[in-house]
Amino acid sequence: SYRAVVLVSGTGSNLQALLDACGQGADHSKRIGASVVGVLSNRADALALSRAARAGVATEVLSHRDFSDREGFDAAMIERIDAWAPDVVVLAGFMRILTPAFVAHYQGRLINIHPSLLPKHKGLNTHQRALDAGDSEHGCSVHFVTPELDGGPVIAQHRLSVHQQDSAESLAARVHQAEHQLYPRVLGWLASGRLQWQPEALLFDGRALTAALSS
Ligand code: GAR
Repeated sequence: SYRAVVLVSGTGSNLQALLDACGQGADHSKRIGASVVGVLSNRADALALSRAARAGVATEVLSHRDFSDREGFDAAMIERIDAWAPDVVVLAGFMRILTPAFVAHYQGRLINIHPSLLPKHKGLNTHQRALDAGDSEHGCSVHFVTPELDGGPVIAQHRLSVHQQDSAESLAARVHQAEHQLYPRVLGWLASGRLQWQPEALLFDGRALTAALSS
């Protein structure tokens, strides 16, 4: 089936949602026609690694600290990832900036989830920044990765209302829930061939996407 390699740095709740949707969680009935075939973490202490192990998925740890530059780290990652022969590489809370060479290598088969309604709030601390900006809506976005940080074409977004009493923590919790719905959906669209990247255009059911899909 369609092969996904997932890159992580932390808790891995999005990895868990993807595993569950692939029938690799507690419930073995498949919802999407994809399998997670490998998980790579840049941190040995990432909880995501035990989630992968529990699902019987191969893991690799590659610490960026063992490399003198990003180019060397990314080249080593490419070697590990390609050994799993992925159809898609899925960034799920992977907190390293990728080199243009890495991004080019996986052009059209590299996706990321970001906790904001892109193009708003690229980078870190997105929930606090949404509050500080007085945004009435917040959410998450899945996008294809290009060399511009959090700047690639958006595939789909989940929007939610910001409440008067929201804190960064309460918003983060709701965004996380939304991410766990959105990311498996997008992976399913890729696995089924409904969603495709062509240079300069995203195609959904053969039609060019002019706006992000919503979940
Ligand atoms: C998610 O909220 C994801 O959107 C964010 O990290 C969290 C990882 O949670 N990613 C980024 O900020 C990327 N720059 P998880 O480890 O529980 O999936």
